[in-house]
Amino acid sequence: MTLYMIGIGLNDEKDITLKGLEAVKKASYVFLENYTSKLQVPVEKLQSFYGKKIVLADRNMVEKKADIILDKAVENEVAFLVVGDVFGATTHTDLFLRAKEKKIKVNIINNASILNSIGIVGLELYKFGKTTSLPYPEDNFKPETAYDVIKSNQEAGLHTLVLLDIKPDRNMTVNEAIKILLEIEHKRKEKVFTKDVKIVGCARIGGDYKIKYGTASELEKEDFGEPLHCIIIPGKLHFVEEEVLETWK
Ligand SMILES: C[S@@+](CC[C@H](N)C(=O)[O-])C[C@H]1O[C@@H](n2cnc3c(N)ncnc32)[C@H](O)[C@@H]1O
Repeated sequence: MTLYMIGIGLNDEKDITLKGLEAVKKASYVFLENYTSKLQVPVEKLQSFYGKKIVLADRNMVEKKADIILDKAVENEVAFLVVGDVFGATTHTDLFLRAKEKKIKVNIINNASILNSIGIVGLELYKFGKTTSLPYPEDNFKPETAYDVIKSNQEAGLHTLVLLDIKPDRNMTVNEAIKILLEIEHKRKEKVFTKDVKIVGCARIGGDYKIKYGTASELEKEDFGEPLHCIIIPGKLHFVEEEVLETWK
């Protein structure tokens, strides 16, 4: 039958599109990918609004045991829900390809992603460079990729969107992200992410959002509230971009 891969937007149960909702209504099984992003409402709200039971799909199910989902889609209508847009996280291309291999019809229903909704801060989406993600450092794993990406975007005058780590029990805050990047700066001393670098801190885009523009040391002390959070390091600014950023001070 059909695997519907449906983006459900960024905020709450009502962000799904009408097309998405129609597909969910006719599905025999509904899965929600719940490790690359999070809505700002509990899954029970989705279940009662959609009128369907939702099975939470963790990374292990989607990446290693995808057959649990795909086998059901051979003979049934299956909805696979992704917070934001379907391909806003890299991992779902694999599910798409595996469904195609199994000759399962795939129907993609798009929605807003953090990758485009971030336009709300007033920076031109066309002038963002590579997006990067910042993981929590561990004892034997302290990646500096985000620092390198910020550096190369800065050299090209481009803005950098930094997505922050999500763990089952905690979500990285703007404050934690700044602390981690300042620690890398302290080690590398390349003046990429200093205390004086001006950045934008964002929380709950698409919902009850908070956006603040200021230096890293100012924003390190700011309370951004509930998750999810992300930060932007602006590149070369057009005067209109500068004017909008001033409104978030
Ligand atoms: C892998 S990305 C999201 C992918 C998702 N499929 C999409 O299209 O938006 C997850 C990260 O993006 C950021 N993010 C997602 N939604 C957000 C929101 N509403 N407000 C602020 N940051 C958000 C957070 O840093 C989060 O850890």
